[in-house]
Amino acid sequence: MLLRDLGPLPEEKLRHTAWKRGKLLINQNTNEPMRPSDIVTGSLTFAKPEGLDEHDHDFNNEIAKAALMIIRIQPDEIKDKRALEWSHEGILAYSKICTHVGCPISLYEQQTHHVLCPCHQSTFDLSDGAKVIFGPAGHALPQLRIGVNDEGYLEALGDFDEPVGPAFWERG
Ligand code: FES
Repeated sequence: MLLRDLGPLPEEKLRHTAWKRGKLLINQNTNEPMRPSDIVTGSLTFAKPEGLDEHDHDFNNEIAKAALMIIRIQPDEIKDKRALEWSHEGILAYSKICTHVGCPISLYEQQTHHVLCPCHQSTFDLSDGAKVIFGPAGHALPQLRIGVNDEGYLEALGDFDEPVGPAFWERG
């Protein structure tokens, strides 16, 4: 499902997601909060924020906007300084929503740290701030700043710093 399939999403709706400081990262497959030791180098894991109510009428929209890709890269392989600062010891969290027209990204090439959008083949380098290296996407994938709470679970340190999804919705 495309993010766009969920209906009109004006700028203000895309500017904010369910992420905020202290929200735990929940593994989308297991529904369990994630610890750094769960994230294996070379794997791609999908995460959602804790506490979304599936009975809320906006549930699907909120899940789609907040969907995260989690990967782990050796810190000395991360080229973008801010991306490294926003990681937790090389664990990086990026929006899963392609910045072209909003398909969910799903293909990860662990040798190069590239992710590929299956819709029109935009390719992003997760070792370099998720910058676009191929295809029609107009800008990098937004990154979520993460850390670890007192109980050892991965948590968000805020919302995305820019709107998720396609550029044409929010950029003049
Ligand atoms: S939606 Fe991802 S490349 Fe078009």
